[in-house]
Amino acid sequence: MDYSRFFSADVPSFLRSPVREIFRKVDLSAICSFAGGYPAACTFPVDEIPSLAATVLSKYGTRALQYGATQGVTELREVIAARYGVPVSRVQITTSSQQGIDVCTRILANPGDVIFTTEPTYLGALQSFRAYRADVQPLSRAREIGRGKFIYVIPDFNNPSGETMTLQERESLVALARELDLLIVEDSPYRELRYSGEPVPSIYSLAPERTLHLGSFSKIFAPGFRLGWIIGPEPLLEQIFVCKQALDLCPPVLDQYMAAEFMGSGALDRNLQHTIAEYRRRRDLMLSLLEKYMPSGCSWTRPEGGLFLFLTLPKHIDTVALYDRALAAGVAYVAGSFFYLDGSHRNTMRLNFSFVAEEKFEPGIRLLASLISA
Ligand SMILES: Cc1ncc(COP(=O)(O)O)c(C=O)c1O
Repeated sequence: MDYSRFFSADVPSFLRSPVREIFRKVDLSAICSFAGGYPAACTFPVDEIPSLAATVLSKYGTRALQYGATQGVTELREVIAARYGVPVSRVQITTSSQQGIDVCTRILANPGDVIFTTEPTYLGALQSFRAYRADVQPLSRAREIGRGKFIYVIPDFNNPSGETMTLQERESLVALARELDLLIVEDSPYRELRYSGEPVPSIYSLAPERTLHLGSFSKIFAPGFRLGWIIGPEPLLEQIFVCKQALDLCPPVLDQYMAAEFMGSGALDRNLQHTIAEYRRRRDLMLSLLEKYMPSGCSWTRPEGGLFLFLTLPKHIDTVALYDRALAAGVAYVAGSFFYLDGSHRNTMRLNFSFVAEEKFEPGIRLLASLISA
């Protein structure tokens, strides 16, 4: 049967994630994969989950298993509001920050509306923007185009580049948004994963009137909970509240109570200390191995946090073309061109340092370096 006539006009715009395609094809445990963005399993507080669940069930009983408010349970909104110094009325819980991106796009963008993004940028955001048939443009063209709905930006430890925007860059971005009357979607799931350097004020703190700040529990608790939050102006959250009713009625209630308990009791901060130490060591190891093995002509970012760094190779090396050979040899990465709107920068790649077992770092980087040298 031919199903094509049943699909909506949005479907041809859907973008497949090359990263998820890799996961479908390859047994990641069999190779050295620097490709995905999974957190290290050792950072999950697995031993604390049974007592956390027991505490929540004794505290809230059947409420923890019932439908909840679309905005999220009050207890979780309160701990997030207190942590980030905002009123509870400005906090909406989301079923992951991916949903946060999607729901912001859904309430803001009509087909053809312009969304500006810094580059390289997060693929999952491009998937949402394309699904709503928005016209996604590089931020560098904002003044020339002169109109649009919002700027999407990952200011802290960018996925994929690992880079962090300076305060001055954030101030310029806010000035541009004010000049062109654009909203800002500040996607910041890695903000709390800082291993060195000094924190930079969030864009939300610089422009609370026009910023939707997206946070996530995925990298500071566990991605399996699928919980995130949006902090933003009440009139925008009001539309998100209505929109989310159609998406999932409410975020998962038991998960939210557990996250609230974990964050509110101080357990999250204790776990975060250990997570940060783990990732700092992994980042330093990867940086030292790149230094040791990469041939001349290669450069890379030195992230102060997050899960990724970004390599730039000599111009003639095409990381898309190199990919199958790398996979056959036993090492995976994501070609950097996937993170650019026009598929350019084919001599770049993203490497993740959170997921692979540390003992695989050295053989993996050595292999990658030998493929690049060849
Ligand atoms: C920049 C960015 N935004 C959003 C997400 C989605 O995170 P979540 O697990 O909260 O959906 C990711 C996940 O890798 C990401 O890198």
